[in-house]
Amino acid sequence: MTSDVKRPIDFNRITANVDAADYERLFPAERYISKEWLAREYEVLWSRVWQWACREEEIPNPGDFYEYRIGDQSVLVVRGNEGHIHAYHNSCMHRGTRLAEGGTPFGGPGSFRTRSPFGGPGSLQKNKHLFKGKIQCVFHGWAWDLEGQIAHMPGAKDFAPACIRREEVALRKVQVDTWAGFVFINLDPDAGPLHEYLDPVPQRLAKFEIGQMRILRHYTTILPCNWKYGVDQFQEGYHVWATHVMDMNEVGAVSTGPGGRRVGEMTKGPPPADIVGAMTEYEQLGRHTNFWEPDWELGTGLPKGVKLRDLGNDPRSWVHQAIETMVLQGRAAQYELDYFDGLEALPLDMEGPHFMALNRRDACAAKGIDLSALTDEELYGFPCEHRIFPNMLGPVAGNSFGLFRSRPNGNDPDSCIWDMYFMFRYAEGEAPERDVLYIPDWRNPPPGRITPSFMQDWRTTPLFQAGMHQRSFPGHRFNRQEQNIIHTHKLLDRIIGK
Ligand code: FES
Ligand SMILES: [Fe+2]
Repeated sequence: MTSDVKRPIDFNRITANVDAADYERLFPAERYISKEWLAREYEVLWSRVWQWACREEEIPNPGDFYEYRIGDQSVLVVRGNEGHIHAYHNSCMHRGTRLAEGGTPFGGPGSFRTRSPFGGPGSLQKNKHLFKGKIQCVFHGWAWDLEGQIAHMPGAKDFAPACIRREEVALRKVQVDTWAGFVFINLDPDAGPLHEYLDPVPQRLAKFEIGQMRILRHYTTILPCNWKYGVDQFQEGYHVWATHVMDMNEVGAVSTGPGGRRVGEMTKGPPPADIVGAMTEYEQLGRHTNFWEPDWELGTGLPKGVKLRDLGNDPRSWVHQAIETMVLQGRAAQYELDYFDGLEALPLDMEGPHFMALNRRDACAAKGIDLSALTDEELYGFPCEHRIFPNMLGPVAGNSFGLFRSRPNGNDPDSCIWDMYFMFRYAEGEAPERDVLYIPDWRNPPPGRITPSFMQDWRTTPLFQAGMHQRSFPGHRFNRQEQNIIHTHKLLDRIIGK
């Protein structure tokens, strides 16, 4: 690794393309296993890039906060008294103590409205009224209002006045902004605006009205792989036929992921080398990427070109099962299944994939959610999966967004913090009961929460990471279907160095 990148990178200008020569390159394992490389990522990437911290709905009321951690840095995202969102470095201005912790070992939500001032039962609880709605330090009890101004400083007369000027002891701010209900932070005070950084993803996704979606499930675990591999897995369809081969059903279709469905449709055995994932499309969008499955009907779980009446002896139970599978996978909402079960008659002359789109459109309309701007493909196919550099990606379709995020875990390049969110549109004012789960051991998630396809992806993580350490490994070689991973590395070429 060379360190020729001393000048600050302007993340709002950085772009990369994938060229023919890139397919001849070997990308070193060092990027995935080296502590020095990870340290450099913290120094010049994570300290300067916009990164998704939480959803606005996770801090709905004044005084609610979300602790977002990246490496050894912690940021408090706080809902202020006027409803505005602030972000502060999570460090006391007296002697540096962390001011608050979220609900998991990696941050999470909490509230200064209800939080006991000294973290648990004890005599100091009696002073609770002093601290309610304040950001207070447990050590000597300094407290700030939600706007970051000092509100309480015991024994102030014992400090030198010059040392405790109000502006001096205000909480240190972190850049914060929102898009579509996502709260992003940037540790670089000089970073350009978020909307400029995200371009062109927001306008690409505007029709899905992601800001109206609500989290149904949020699962977090630690995976035994580098954070980039966590993202890489969801940037290519090439692995699907092998990693997820056990998902092939009786018609030979794989029920998750692009590429693999195409493969499954064509053959039950190992597919010819020139067919695997050949129909999955990829594109680079400056610093972000996208991929999609053009043959959208393969994403619906029902066979293409087959009318409902020809789905075996019992089309109703066939379709029920298809939607139920989608619900389990986080790709359909329970209310779509309920709506289907309430239908008195099925349009038997309609082809299955189009019916899946129709059912989604109608189930949403019954809740007052207007999806008329979306095509059948956008409603129920695999129309796009944008990756917002560096670590946020997932498929959007119709009323749903499955969203993944990976972050490095401390100073260990062989470990990452992995978040999965499943979000849906709901009726105005309706909010689902959120299923929030931290899974301490990825091998043993509680039953019924993590679908087999995710377990299949997770199962490869320790194998991948261990193989990276093999001294003989010459480096990664990528093919066309892995071009979005090349794109990540070409950005890293510029940010970290080759
Ligand atoms: S360290 Fe926070 S009040 Fe002293
Ligand atoms: Fe996968």
